[in-house]
Amino acid sequence: MIPITRPSMGEAEAEAARRAIMSGWISQGPEVAAFEREFAEAVGALHACAVSNCTTALHLALLACGVGPGDEVITVSHSYIATANAIRYCGATPIFVDIEPDGFNIDATQIESALTTRTRAILCVHQIGMPCDLATIVEIAHRRNIPVIEDAACAIGGEILWRGSWERIGKPHGDVACFSFHPRKVISTGDGGMITTANAQWDATFRLLRQHGMSVPDTVRHGANRVIFESYGQLGYNYRMTDIQAAVGREQLKRLPQIVAARRALAERYRSLLASIPGLELPREPGWARSNWQSFCVRLPDGCDQRAVMQTMLDEGVSTRRGIMCSHREPAYSDQPLRSSLARSEFAQDRSIILPLYPEMTAAEQDLVQAALAQACLLQEPATSAESSFQQRCDEVAERQ
Ligand SMILES: Cc1ncc(COP(=O)(O)O)c(C=O)c1O
Repeated sequence: MIPITRPSMGEAEAEAARRAIMSGWISQGPEVAAFEREFAEAVGALHACAVSNCTTALHLALLACGVGPGDEVITVSHSYIATANAIRYCGATPIFVDIEPDGFNIDATQIESALTTRTRAILCVHQIGMPCDLATIVEIAHRRNIPVIEDAACAIGGEILWRGSWERIGKPHGDVACFSFHPRKVISTGDGGMITTANAQWDATFRLLRQHGMSVPDTVRHGANRVIFESYGQLGYNYRMTDIQAAVGREQLKRLPQIVAARRALAERYRSLLASIPGLELPREPGWARSNWQSFCVRLPDGCDQRAVMQTMLDEGVSTRRGIMCSHREPAYSDQPLRSSLARSEFAQDRSIILPLYPEMTAAEQDLVQAALAQACLLQEPATSAESSFQQRCDEVAERQ
């Protein structure tokens, strides 16, 4: 069976976990502090704050930007549901904007028309590791004094051409960036997250809120030679990362350049292997972006049934995942407003599949994926052009909205 992904871990990570366990300090402590310093250095950020996962990172980032009840946050529906959920945790409303015609990221040209006097932030996503059009988004937002939060859950190791030089995602180029270390991501700590910013005050807020709003951290009280009573000045959360996770993360971070290089080479090889499948659309990398290829997502030829293709491939021993979901189609979002057409998002969800990709993947495994996909597409009855046309799907969606 070829899995969709496989965390790239070994003895070094196992030894690091052991080191933390044997140290006697296993909750948020010195390993977390070291991971934060090393992460900040790796992405070129002034501050990095480790948290329990990217969902909690997004929640804290939105709170630091002042997002609250009655506010609106511009984002995409076409993302993992955690993106929109984090906005709702603040009591705010996600305002969904459609994606680009030929990619999986927000269509920056549609942001202006979604802005209202209630817009409190823009939450853009570097979907499946491909940097979104930050230059346009930041320009629109900063002209109106609106902060930009980057959902960089999948984007560690990705790069963007910024004012003439290549920079890592996470500097951040907006105001805050949030990362995930879930096992489907490029580096993992089991679960885990990181928030980067250049704003020292926001960084202090993240540190306070991730630990119950505690005035004096337990690490400080533990090392003090006099008794200290902490206080809780505001409502906080338990969004901490443990030292065991951070120790593993530090080892993963050391291997990030090799991991990204391997993923990029595999993506390049997929590109030439899959070019022979008629009608299959391969992912596009704009000239100003370097993806970490957290996922390799292809659009199926017209007339191919997504589920049937996935089932045929599974029967051949190749695991795939459906294209990126749309939050607005989930029952949990049935009461949320829709202000514009999300036809491209829906089309992308229904017509794309994610192929296996992990650094240790062999050429033989990639060849098997190609063969299984080619066969699955061949087995599909071509639909009539009227049934499959994108325009017809747009009209259907517009009618429903
Ligand atoms: C775009 C995006 N945002 C947020 C998340 C949530 O990350 P986590 O699982 O670390 O909370 C994910 C996870 O898959 C994601 O893909």
